[in-house]
Amino acid sequence: MLDITHVRSVLSDVYDLAPSATLANEMQDIYARMDRVISPPDWAIYAPYVRAINALKKERNAVILGHNYMTPEIFHGVSDFGGDSLQLAMKASDVKEDVIVQAGVHFMAETSKILSPQKTVLMPDMDAGCSLAESITAEGVEEMRAKYPGAPVVSYVNTTAEVKAASDICCTSSNAVQIVNAMDSDTVIMTPDQYLAQNVANESHKNVVYWPGSCIVHEQYTAKDLRDFREWNPGTQLIAHPECTPDVVAEADFSGSTSGIIKYVHDKKPERAMLITECSMASNIADELPEVEFVGPCNMCPYMKKITLEKILYVLHTMEGQVEVDEDVAAKARKSVQAMIDLSRKLGL
Ligand code: 13P
Ligand code: SF4
Repeated sequence: MLDITHVRSVLSDVYDLAPSATLANEMQDIYARMDRVISPPDWAIYAPYVRAINALKKERNAVILGHNYMTPEIFHGVSDFGGDSLQLAMKASDVKEDVIVQAGVHFMAETSKILSPQKTVLMPDMDAGCSLAESITAEGVEEMRAKYPGAPVVSYVNTTAEVKAASDICCTSSNAVQIVNAMDSDTVIMTPDQYLAQNVANESHKNVVYWPGSCIVHEQYTAKDLRDFREWNPGTQLIAHPECTPDVVAEADFSGSTSGIIKYVHDKKPERAMLITECSMASNIADELPEVEFVGPCNMCPYMKKITLEKILYVLHTMEGQVEVDEDVAAKARKSVQAMIDLSRKLGL
């Protein structure tokens, strides 16, 4: 586990990280991307970190890939590229820089390393896991193959490199239906998210069988929550991630991946919207959509929230937190991830 006292002592020897209203004022252009959701005193705290990280990125020839669930000061302050799992994986396969800092969870950093083995991939906190990735091992995939002989295995990118290596192809929430439909078999095995699999089954013509994993953030929402919310706040558009249960998805006005949700809100511009997903999603798009009021409860992903500006600065400074994947495992996993990327490009996704 990262020793935060050590992190602070290393950083304070080198950088001036004291809150600064003057610096915050000088960095108004960056602040403008998040000033509806970050208060000026908080920006004065973040600004010295943002300045130090952005300068160090140039020195190290590094790029920061930020998932849509990062907090706004990371997503808008230091990320060079933001997006959903599929967009980040595609970006990781063609970045020019020598170093990739993954502002996201561990399976995303592994995916970047699998696709760019010659690059240094840094993970700001190795403990930023994922309940889905932790729910299955390569043995679990073999168990499913034994139960459904001949059926192809489509594994969500929210899996370890070993599980990807044991699968035939990967998918993300933005291409899962199309990938499953493209399989040359009536029965398709999906791992590890039971709810994504059930939601895909509802939209596909395949017999989808699945592993019983789940996301601890999305499984908390119930259809009753959504009905109660509608009653309390009529007219609000309810927009759910497909890691939610099928009941929740059925109750929602739209369901899509994190980038699908962003696109939907941009296109529809509802007066009020509730995003049935991780908290930071709404914060990250609030400034670009001032006409939309984001309302209602949201759940935080404790893994995503392990990533902070302080830890990003620390790994860029020390070059600690390098992600390694065994070469044989990486070669097999690359086939599954690349098959997904190639098929997604072919399908124009
Ligand atoms: P997306 O692929 O929609 O970005 O989802 C990733 C994730 O971890 C959602 O919980
Ligand atoms: Fe994993 Fe869920 Fe967190 Fe996404 S939100 S990283 S699926 S635990």
